[in-house]
Amino acid sequence: MALGTELATVNPDRPKTTSVRRVIQARRLALRGVSKVFTSRHGGRVEALKDINLAISPGEFVSVVGGSGCGKSTLLRIIAGLEGVSSGEALLDGQPINRAGLDRGMVFQEHRLLPWLNVWDNVLFALPDPRGPAARELVDEHLELVGLKPFASAYPNQLSGGMSQRVAIARALVNRPGILLLDEPFGALDALTRIQLQQEILRIWQAERATMVLVTHDIDEAVFLGDRVVVLSNRPGTVKEEIPVPLARPRQRGGNDFSAIRRKVYRHFFLEEENAPEYMV
Ligand SMILES: Nc1ncnc2c1ncn2[C@@H]1O[C@H](COP(=O)(O)OP(=O)(O)O)[C@@H](O)[C@H]1O
Ligand SMILES: [Mg+2]
Repeated sequence: MALGTELATVNPDRPKTTSVRRVIQARRLALRGVSKVFTSRHGGRVEALKDINLAISPGEFVSVVGGSGCGKSTLLRIIAGLEGVSSGEALLDGQPINRAGLDRGMVFQEHRLLPWLNVWDNVLFALPDPRGPAARELVDEHLELVGLKPFASAYPNQLSGGMSQRVAIARALVNRPGILLLDEPFGALDALTRIQLQQEILRIWQAERATMVLVTHDIDEAVFLGDRVVVLSNRPGTVKEEIPVPLARPRQRGGNDFSAIRRKVYRHFFLEEENAPEYMV
């Protein structure tokens, strides 16, 4: 059972001057000719990504859209340092990415909270030094950031899907990462909660200014949030097109400019596909 509605607890306050939250150092990311091939023990071979070139500036919000299985999660896992490249280079501030680090936070479609820990402890658990002097304040401040301080002692099974994702966002940010990687973070939520969480992530990005990479197959979401939308082809994923979104925020989903960009993304998304619905082209 959910403990509250999604709308009730949003806190738009700016960080307090007493904050223990360090200013985030947004990171610059570059993928150069990145390819990824998975091989199985039985000689099977899956080419997931092919010759990906992508440069992301510090503090930029980049949306990546692509069909199922085109390598979106693999791309994020490479940036996270959880997966190596087969060829090419993945660079963070000019340095090769060769391991995972606290400087990169990640949010997944499933919240991945530990069911036996309450909300507060779930966030605390992400800190390398949970007994450190700033740990308690860091957890408090990040729960406040996502509007969930009143639910600190609730357990995951008492939370709605949207609230759980907010905890996952607080957990991903508690180490003050310079990049937040979002892998279809709202994919399992109902349409209205999804819109609320999109507004929430926008507010957080504007307050924190980390570099954001959002993978989604929701084109509306990609255009609502991104400074640009990168469209990947079907597997092996290659960059089909990069579409800038030069619209002021918050964006009006019903506006003409918004619709024109969305149409453009659709068109590239379905380009070369025989079954592209007529109204999209
Ligand atoms: N560890 C792995 N071993 C073998 N194949 C994998 C592995 N991870 C992903 N793949 C394959 O790579 C392709 C891309 O996967 P993924 O990045 O998860 O796609 P997406 O997130 O776009 O749906 C898929 O065909 C998937 O089965
Ligand atoms: Mg995926």
